[in-house]
Amino acid sequence: MILPKPRQIQHGTGSFVLDATTQIQADDASRAAADALRRAFPLIAQSQTGSANAATITLSVDSERLGPEAYDLTVADERIEITGGDAAGVFYGVQSLRQLLPADAFADAATSAQSWEIPQVRITDQPAFRWRGVLLDVARHFMPKQFVLKLIDLLALHKLNVLHLHLTDDQGWRLEVEKYPKLTEIGAWRPETLVGHAHRPESEYEFDGTPHGGCYTAQDIRDIVSYATERFVTVVPEIDMPGHMLAAIASYPELGNGLKEPKVWTRWGICDQVLNVEDSTLDFCRDVLAEVMRLFPSQYIHCGGDECPKAEWRASEAVQRRIRELGLTGTDGRTPEDALQMWFTGQMASYLADHGRRFVGWDEVLEGGGPDRLPGNVVVMSWRSEAGGIEAARSGLDVVMAPCQYVYLDYYQSEDHEAEPLAIGGLTPLSKVYDYRVIPAELDTDESARRHVLGAQAQLWTEYVPTPEHAEYMLFPRLCAFAEAVWRDTSQGVDPYERFVAERLRPHLARLDALGVNYRAL
Ligand code: ACM
Repeated sequence: MILPKPRQIQHGTGSFVLDATTQIQADDASRAAADALRRAFPLIAQSQTGSANAATITLSVDSERLGPEAYDLTVADERIEITGGDAAGVFYGVQSLRQLLPADAFADAATSAQSWEIPQVRITDQPAFRWRGVLLDVARHFMPKQFVLKLIDLLALHKLNVLHLHLTDDQGWRLEVEKYPKLTEIGAWRPETLVGHAHRPESEYEFDGTPHGGCYTAQDIRDIVSYATERFVTVVPEIDMPGHMLAAIASYPELGNGLKEPKVWTRWGICDQVLNVEDSTLDFCRDVLAEVMRLFPSQYIHCGGDECPKAEWRASEAVQRRIRELGLTGTDGRTPEDALQMWFTGQMASYLADHGRRFVGWDEVLEGGGPDRLPGNVVVMSWRSEAGGIEAARSGLDVVMAPCQYVYLDYYQSEDHEAEPLAIGGLTPLSKVYDYRVIPAELDTDESARRHVLGAQAQLWTEYVPTPEHAEYMLFPRLCAFAEAVWRDTSQGVDPYERFVAERLRPHLARLDALGVNYRAL
């Protein structure tokens, strides 16, 4: 059974035999989907033009009849037809077609198979939301390019379409920036890392004595972006600011608020060090964003904005002077420093808007004045709960729902912590992720606010996730459940969790086995 579950599926009785004589016919718009089909079935890729009446797979786009990302898939005796509302729709039709084959078809050894029988079927399908994202934190632990590419393939298999790369944080800067080489010469490395959990007395802290680091070159990023583009995945880069910036401050101390000899952080938690608000620092941020825009075609550029402690700003003469010059005041329980962060957000949002891009920020960007004070094209990512997303959507801002209570995949998968690898805390078992509803109940009857919910995103923060294998363990199978939650139209009814597991997830795990994914066993 196909995962995520298609909108409509009708089973026939016969089957289509796919073998080396099968022909592919694709219109221009469906070329990427045809490439995906050839990658999935190398035995067709090798076929020479056969007889005129050979069995054929036809791929085409019909944007009059079908919406964005929608597709129809028909498997008949002698033909398979996939029609998409756009190129992505055809690609998703190919992903569904792959899942009509036995799980073996996903293994490398599949290249040696001589033929596959595909059951007759007719499917019509489309996603409920256009932002179906996954965040990978490559800052706390650097993740090699090969793993990022593997993850992109896995996103595509699950019809997920956004890879949010958290590229910078207190513990590491992962993106080479030509104008600021020290960001990666210094900021990409920490001499050691805390062993065990950060939530214990500092007097008990132990460090591993092992340097950790790494970064992506411009060429790495081009490779990642082009690989993702071929698979209809948008790579949304995040440069977290003005907090979570210690790696940059360690590289260029003039960006900070006077701490002597700042160092890339070796522990977890929320760091007090934040950017100052000198003109030169804002120019630095714009320069970095300019490089980011050169490398990442995404319309959406994430500028973080979460967890920015205000102690340094309160204590700094220069920052206080800036607050006075800007005439910022605190109102309604918000401090002048909150208002300063809102001003900072506005500066970055307008810079991005001037270049045709949209600022995305964590829900803290609402503090210091509320959604009405933000430029209208800002996108709010609601992580602390659903509340920020509800408030922003009601006031007309676009939002992506990412509430930690449901879709943080760095949280524990079960209550039995002894049986699980060390995690940051929390609890988001598979069933909770599956039952997650993207539209908060509060917005069920608010059509105009609901339209501002672009979709949802699952987060994998990697403080306690040092390797790709461990990342796969945290991501899967929860990401399979998330893929269903963000694809399905809940107004059509939702299968009970047990049915999802029995009918779709169990067979799907055989595919993940064939793909060599280190998922957590059920
Ligand atoms: C976050 O988890 N600090 C966005």
